[in-house]
Amino acid sequence: TLPSKVRIVEVGPRDGLQNERNFVPTRDKIRLIDMLTNTGLETIEVTSFISPKWVPQLADAKEVFTSIQKKPGVGYPVLVPNLKGLEAAVEAGAEEIAIFAAASETFSRKNLNCSIEESLSRFRQVTEEAKRHHLSIRGYVSCVAGCPFEGSIDTEQVVRVTCGLFEMGCYEVSLGDTIGVGTPGDFHRILQALQPHVSMNALAVHCHDTRGTALANILTALQYQVHVVDASVAGLGGCPFAPGATGNVATEDVIYMLRGMGIDVGPIDLSALIAVGQETCQLLGKNNNSKVAVASQAS
Ligand code: HMG
Ligand code: MG
Repeated sequence: TLPSKVRIVEVGPRDGLQNERNFVPTRDKIRLIDMLTNTGLETIEVTSFISPKWVPQLADAKEVFTSIQKKPGVGYPVLVPNLKGLEAAVEAGAEEIAIFAAASETFSRKNLNCSIEESLSRFRQVTEEAKRHHLSIRGYVSCVAGCPFEGSIDTEQVVRVTCGLFEMGCYEVSLGDTIGVGTPGDFHRILQALQPHVSMNALAVHCHDTRGTALANILTALQYQVHVVDASVAGLGGCPFAPGATGNVATEDVIYMLRGMGIDVGPIDLSALIAVGQETCQLLGKNNNSKVAVASQAS
C-alpha cells in the first residue's frame, strides 16, 4: 500500500535560484515566494544563510526571509551550513533550518569545504544551538545515488550519514539524488538498507531529474512509506558545486501524478502553481521543465 497523504516541500526559491548565474533581484525572489505561498503549498524552502562568497545569488537571504509574507501554518525552512549561518537565521526569525551533509567525501569538500566527519561535528554544534532556540531541524544527505566526482557511493555511507543526522535531532532527513543519476533500483537498495535503522515516516526524497528518473524514484520511495517529497516549481534547480546537475523534479508534475493516484497532497491550486512557474521561467529566461505545465499551455 502507498501513503494516503504526501507532504510536498517546495525548494524552488532555494535550490532553484542558487544555481542561477545572473543575480535575481531581491524583490523578484520575494514575489516568487509570496506567489508560492498563495498557491496553498505547506512548506517552502526560502533561501540559504551560507557564505555569499560561495553562493552570491543568495547573499540577500536576510532581506528575503524578513520581507516575505508568512502565512500561518506554512513552514519556511532555510539552509544553514555552520554556526555563523545559524546565528543569522535566528536573527532573521527563522523557525526551521535545514542542515546539509553528503554521502560523498569529495562532494562534502567541494560543497562545504570540509570532510564528512568534520561536517557532522560542525552540524552537531549547529543543532545543539538550534535546539536551544527551539528550531525545527531538517537534514539533507547529498549524493545518495551517486557523486559527480566519485561516481557510485557506498550504501553504508548513506546509512551512516543519515543516522548521524537523526541522532543529532533532525525530525526528517531528505535523501538527495543531487545529480539525478539514481534509478528505482538505487532507491530500492538505499531504502532497504535504511529500513532497519530509521523510520521511513521520517524520510523525504529529493530527486533531481537530470536523467528523467525522478518520478519513478519518488514512486519507489512511496512504496517504502516515504511520504515527504521535495520538488521545485517549473523544475528549477541545481547545485553550483555539483557539475552536471540539472533541476529538481517539477512540483507541478509531482502533484499531477500523486493526485492521479488518489493521494492527498494538500490544498495546492495546481493551475495557480503552473502560472507561477510560467512567470518565473519568463523572468529567468528559461524553458519550463514541468511537463504538466508545458502540456497545459499547449492544450
Ligand atoms: P569556508 O570558506 O571554509 O568558511 O566555507 P570560513 O569559515 O573559512 O569563512 C569564509 C568566509 O565566509 C568568511 O568571511 C566568513 O565570515 C564567511 P571573510 O572573513 O573571508 O570575509 N562565512 C559566512 N558568511 C555568511 N554566512 C555564513 C558564513 N560562513 C562563513 N553562514 C562554508 C565554508 C560552509 C561557509 C561554505 O562552504 C558554504 O557556504 N557552503 C555552502 C554551499 C552551498 O550553499 N551549496 C548548495 C546548497 S546544498 C545543495 O544544493 C544540495 C541539496 O539541494 C540536496 C541535494 O540536492 O543533494 C540540499
Ligand atoms: Mg538539491
